[in-house]
Amino acid sequence: MPLRPPSPTAGRESEHWTFVTHKKTSKTCKNRRAATRPGALSRLPHPHPPPHQPLRSPPAIAAEYRRIRSTWDSSSSPCCAALRVLAAKSAAAAARCAPVSRAVCLGIGSFDPPDGGWEARRRTYLQLIAFLVMVDELEKHMGRTIPCIFQEPVFTSADRDFIAGLGHHVVDSPEACDRVTPDTFLFGIHLYRPIYAMALRNHLPALFVGTGWDVWDQFSLSESPDLLHLEEMERTYAKAAFPQDSSSTAFSSTSVYWRSAASAPAQPATSLTDQTSKHHQHDTLPPETKAESVT
Ligand SMILES: C[S@@+](CC[C@H](N)C(=O)[O-])C[C@H]1O[C@@H](n2cnc3c(N)ncnc32)[C@H](O)[C@@H]1O
Repeated sequence: MPLRPPSPTAGRESEHWTFVTHKKTSKTCKNRRAATRPGALSRLPHPHPPPHQPLRSPPAIAAEYRRIRSTWDSSSSPCCAALRVLAAKSAAAAARCAPVSRAVCLGIGSFDPPDGGWEARRRTYLQLIAFLVMVDELEKHMGRTIPCIFQEPVFTSADRDFIAGLGHHVVDSPEACDRVTPDTFLFGIHLYRPIYAMALRNHLPALFVGTGWDVWDQFSLSESPDLLHLEEMERTYAKAAFPQDSSSTAFSSTSVYWRSAASAPAQPATSLTDQTSKHHQHDTLPPETKAESVT
């Protein structure tokens, strides 16, 4: 099982992305420290590459999506089966506090990356499928349709058309972050730290999928309080490791957090200076999610 998320050597991605590194063997990376500071995204010279001209058509992307989904979203995929069970469990618990009425998906990458890289493209498909599988379970539980909003600055026009063709909305940053409310399902895997900070700054969501608190470099966290809202979820929400897909790094270092009866009632994220200690209840985390840190 991969210990690391996307490889820093994966072509052009490494010029723009920051990556999870092993907490105990953190390597120096020029952009790493900059990207972990509050407001750092705006200071980075190229926080993400601009969308390029699409090479693939929306129907070609849709065909590839259906092919990958039919293989992955089947009983033969232990990851998908485990995800459905976990999604149903977390949906039921979160719904006891407040119904989930919106789903926000951030930063899944492009279905047509400029270098055509298959690994990155497959991660994008798998993250989309996992997001939609979780939405599917939430909808079953809530008995109603949950609107989905996507935000990814590198989406090409073909990516946007493909997502729109599935019946979902694509918005420009930071609109999706601004639409996170206490009854939102927020999904964003391997994101830059400032994006998590931006998405969590107004409200804690009902259900969150992303890099877990335990994975971040505790030294850099002490330098700035930008992720204290994540720390609040770590203390007050139920949590489980995201099921791993043995064929890819799509879900490495990823956790699922959900508001439960033991959590604080749905309310705006508390002020960064008003942190009170609350108890938490965590499912057991497998070792591979514990030993890494994200930049
Ligand atoms: C390290 S990459 C991870 C991509 C993908 N989730 C994966 O695991 O391979 C971070 C992603 O965040 C996206 N991103 C950057 N700024 C963003 C923003 N303001 N809102 C949403 N996504 C953003 C980047 O374009 C990039 O695709």
